[in-house]
Amino acid sequence: MPKAKITLSQDRAIGAVDPRLYGSFIEHLGRAVYGGIYEPGHPRANAQGFREDVLGLVRALRVPVIRYPGGNFVSGYNWEDGVGPAADRPVRLELAWRSLEHNAFGTNEFVQWCRAAQAQPMLAVNLGTRGPDAARSLVEYCNHPRGTQWSDLRRRHGFEAPHDVRIWCLGNEMDGPWQIGAKTADEYGRVACEAAKVMKWVDPTIELITCGSSNISMSTFGEWDRVALEHTYEHVDYVSLHTYYRKSSGTPELLGRSLRMDEQITRIVRICDEVKARKKGAKTVNLSFDEWNVWYHSNERDRTMAPWQLAPPLLEDIYTHEDALLVGCMMITLLRHADRVKMACLAQLVNVIAPIMTVTGGACWRQTIYYPFCHASLWGRGTAIALSPRSDHYHSTDDGSVPYLEAVGVCSEDGTAITVFAVNRHVSEPLQLTGDVRDYPGATVVEHIQMTHANPEAANTRDNPDAVTPRADGNATLQSGALVASLPPLSWNVIRLRVGPPVTTPA
Ligand code: AHR
Repeated sequence: MPKAKITLSQDRAIGAVDPRLYGSFIEHLGRAVYGGIYEPGHPRANAQGFREDVLGLVRALRVPVIRYPGGNFVSGYNWEDGVGPAADRPVRLELAWRSLEHNAFGTNEFVQWCRAAQAQPMLAVNLGTRGPDAARSLVEYCNHPRGTQWSDLRRRHGFEAPHDVRIWCLGNEMDGPWQIGAKTADEYGRVACEAAKVMKWVDPTIELITCGSSNISMSTFGEWDRVALEHTYEHVDYVSLHTYYRKSSGTPELLGRSLRMDEQITRIVRICDEVKARKKGAKTVNLSFDEWNVWYHSNERDRTMAPWQLAPPLLEDIYTHEDALLVGCMMITLLRHADRVKMACLAQLVNVIAPIMTVTGGACWRQTIYYPFCHASLWGRGTAIALSPRSDHYHSTDDGSVPYLEAVGVCSEDGTAITVFAVNRHVSEPLQLTGDVRDYPGATVVEHIQMTHANPEAANTRDNPDAVTPRADGNATLQSGALVASLPPLSWNVIRLRVGPPVTTPA
């Protein structure tokens, strides 16, 4: 039987978990907006056209920040199309996803929806077909109190108080040839720098995210990030990272993919710090992993989708149990880098590669990936702690040596609870976990939640929405200073401990 050991020690704090690590993303893509979060006429829609059933599932995730309106969509978007009287809003060919966009939902609706979802908006500006001028006008429209062209337009649109949007993305994946208005790193860096300057001149309190590489496989990965940061360092607060993983061979290979996320973060942190050193900068630029998920199930069907439809069912991945385990491993990886990854957005939130699915005009349900994300968002707030896992390994043909155990701990803000998040990647055997908890002599196990399934490809569907769900029936116990648990094969685990103040050893 494979084995793994962890140590819970007060000396191994990684850093404070920024709650914005549990962010998500809504793009004008497929049925994310229309038929997802917004569907006037749906039996569960409120007076604003927001689906209350979907809002309930979003609120339960406690998502603190939501990115909008793209994604690739933003690089061709005129934000002015989406504000003002509904009848005056244009219908456009939306080139990023070859769809029709009628603009019934725009910035004001999104900010209102975020308030209803108890989240704050993160807005992206278009640096593809537009630039600094449209970007600074949008900041003025959203955040300036009154007495100017754009702030007064917002007031005429019925929003007297500023929206107070705090976080802004300087474009999206501008290194990608698929992007409308793609740029070289120097071209992007110059435009992003000028946009950042004027956006902060309009509102100096906002935080800005510069585009990093779209993924680690880009031929310009690293160099793009370095050049973009050289241009923008003084004006920005974060650099963005994106990644999506797909299954190309077996389950062990799929589950090993999160090692690449770890490498991506480590390499970008190094680049940020090199640029900082060269600039003799006092400020540290942190990381915003603002698109991450598993994405592959829908690719084939999407290739056959007829163009120029309104809200076509694009990117509607139905997630399996093994996908949820990979999402769990990725969430753990983000927490293991909580000292530098301050924001992250599970991409996306509803219908489009999402934890929540809906039927237009019908029901909604939680996909498998909903659960690990939800558990981390509920119990993963406070201080992330490294568990220094020593685990048996297996060999992945894609990623080499992969530990069976992926794990991290989080100590709650008040110091009375520690939660261990753990995945057993073994396809057929339980993992025997032992934890050294001698630093916490009064610890007790509150509960051990686990999500398992005999079929790694089991999924929650409209007709069977609860095929894969977590249960609090794990066997974690404390036995003379040791945490002992058997983690079932292919399982997601949440071991919640109540702890007193740690024992301190005199120096
Ligand atoms: O999330 C789907 C797409 O993936 C986004 O629009 C884009 O930024 C990324 O390539």
